Amino acid sequence: MNTSPHATLLQWYADHGRHDLPWRTNPDPYAIYVSEIMLQQTQVKTVLERFYFPFLERFPTLTALAEADLDDVLKMWEGLGYYTRARNLYAAARQCNGQLPDNALDLLNLPGIGQSTAHAIAAFAYREPLPIMDANVKRILHRYYALTERNDKKLWDYAYTLFDSAHPFEYNQAMMDIGATICLPKKPLCPLCPLEKSCLGKTSPLAYPASKAKKIKPVRFRNIIVYQKENRYALIQRRTRFLSGLWSFYESEDKPDIHMKYLGEIIQNYSHFTLEAHVYLCTESVLPEGYEWFSVEEIAQLSLSRADHKVVSLL
Ligand code: ADE
Repeated sequence: MNTSPHATLLQWYADHGRHDLPWRTNPDPYAIYVSEIMLQQTQVKTVLERFYFPFLERFPTLTALAEADLDDVLKMWEGLGYYTRARNLYAAARQCNGQLPDNALDLLNLPGIGQSTAHAIAAFAYREPLPIMDANVKRILHRYYALTERNDKKLWDYAYTLFDSAHPFEYNQAMMDIGATICLPKKPLCPLCPLEKSCLGKTSPLAYPASKAKKIKPVRFRNIIVYQKENRYALIQRRTRFLSGLWSFYESEDKPDIHMKYLGEIIQNYSHFTLEAHVYLCTESVLPEGYEWFSVEEIAQLSLSRADHKVVSLL
């Protein structure tokens, strides 16, 4: 018989959950919100070691964040990647007037908050009975219900079916912990799993969902030209969608001028492409429009992409 796994799950969370994660011990909804945005595309370890505490120290409240300069917010986000998250977080703070919405439906109106994040914040900060759906939870549900098909709409139905509405905080946190420590992508540790008894996929967990054909990431070849005048270098603040707000050196597909000095190559992996760039130093030509001059000390105060940091290290 398939009994409800809720009691086992709850006990497992009490015994083995990662209770000391700071966004689980700090009940401040704003801190939970910040953590959920950081954790959307970044691992717990990175968020914990380098970003969560400094960000909250610099912007301790929603109001402090709303009153900050976007450049300072981007600076605190530097290295975390996916900078749209920081811009949305800032825009949301300004939209909120100091008060974060206290339910998922209203949270969904804020930029950068999708259904799963709205549910996570509402469940963790306000105990609203809603399930979450991140990559870990998806993997658990695919295996638990032996689903080969990838279909997010159906998966939400399964998420509600398995959900323990009496314990939204513990259930959702437990699902994340199981996803992170037991129901692992390549080597699931089924004998340790509190869901094993009723899991339909336990005899062949790797079969769910059916594997996708692997996409090959395109490579973008670029030349990066560092314009130099005395001890200053030219950068521009990006207005493009990608990396918007970050400062960057001149980048183009054009061939470099023969007078330019080759400094080296940088490679940067992004989610949707790999950048391979040859970096040149130019001390002669006219500066392209819109660029500003900065010393090395001033550049250290700006927010730069990882690729541009690699360029700095070649100077
Ligand atoms: N990823 C997203 N939210 C999380 C949380 N609350 N705990 C651990 N990992 C997470």
